[in-house]
Amino acid sequence: MEIKSVFIIGAGLMGSGIAQVSAQAGYKTKLFDVNPQALEAAMGNIKNSYNKFVAKGKLTQEQIDKALANLSVTSQMDDASEFDLIIEAVFESVELKQKIFKQLETICKHDAIFATNTSAIAITKIASITKKPDKVVGLHFFSPVPLMKLVEIVSGVKTSQETIDLVAKVASDFGKTSVLVKKDFGGFIVNRVYLPYIRMALLTLTEGVADVEEIDIGVKLGLGYPMGPFELGDMVGWDIMYNAMNAIYKDTEDNAFAPPLLLKRLVDAGVLGKKTGEGFYLYDDKGQKIGVNNDLAII
Ligand SMILES: NC(=O)c1ccc[n+]([C@@H]2O[C@H](COP(=O)([O-])OP(=O)(O)OC[C@H]3O[C@@H](n4cnc5c(N)ncnc54)[C@H](O)[C@@H]3O)[C@@H](O)[C@H]2O)c1
Repeated sequence: MEIKSVFIIGAGLMGSGIAQVSAQAGYKTKLFDVNPQALEAAMGNIKNSYNKFVAKGKLTQEQIDKALANLSVTSQMDDASEFDLIIEAVFESVELKQKIFKQLETICKHDAIFATNTSAIAITKIASITKKPDKVVGLHFFSPVPLMKLVEIVSGVKTSQETIDLVAKVASDFGKTSVLVKKDFGGFIVNRVYLPYIRMALLTLTEGVADVEEIDIGVKLGLGYPMGPFELGDMVGWDIMYNAMNAIYKDTEDNAFAPPLLLKRLVDAGVLGKKTGEGFYLYDDKGQKIGVNNDLAII
């Protein structure tokens, strides 16, 4: 079997980025969402992004014309029936993802490969709802998809080598470097290393070891990281951080992922980072950092 077409479910941040790179790589690509506004916004974002690449001389107008000719959108999930690879990128909910995979089985060709872009849910758990867990795989892209080079290919307990080889070729065609996650372990590679680091930064703050800016400066200059943990968390969103940590903690019961109370309270209070104008730093309307958020009552 050869993968020539890609159907993407969920036209949010990740789904639209995946559609953009897929169409650009020459795959027949269709983007599906239950929300027509999400589809409209996704097409607008994709066109803007292509135009920026042209302005920077990284793509030609001819290349984006070809990419756009490969790309279409739909509000009908039944359109997945003709496609070789399905990539699911809806909200991070086991129930929703399992419902979609169950539906896909009744719609798709028997040899179609089902991939999920989940950050934290076990592939094996999503695959268990289907009758073909050998054809279910994790394809974990990073945001922003058109710029970030990495894809984690995650093997569930029953994922076949053929499935892994097929999606590895797709990731390579998308211009990505893929790494194989051999065991379906919470956090895969990147989040498994990264979330305990964020957790420890939060504990370093709550235990009064150092202040926000000192920790960020320490990590940047001492470890050579481009951003400190609080700058990074403010950019990603503390709700996303909390949900990922909590999902892995629930799955693995490993304390390295136990969300600190401060993180939970930030989410309760809607202090989510740049997107709400307020995290550990304060931001203006344009998202520029304007100072440290000294009003936070650190638990
Ligand atoms: N945001 C990130 O940085 C990031 C990085 C890697 C992986 N992920 C994972 O990717 C997935 C998507 O994340 P996102 O940030 O793009 O989310 P998002 O909220 O931007 O988009 C989700 C989209 O799914 C759509 N949707 C919901 N239910 C649907 C259904 N039944 N059928 C079709 N579409 C449906 C919504 O309308 C929305 O457009 C999640 O599993 C997330 O954990 C996110």
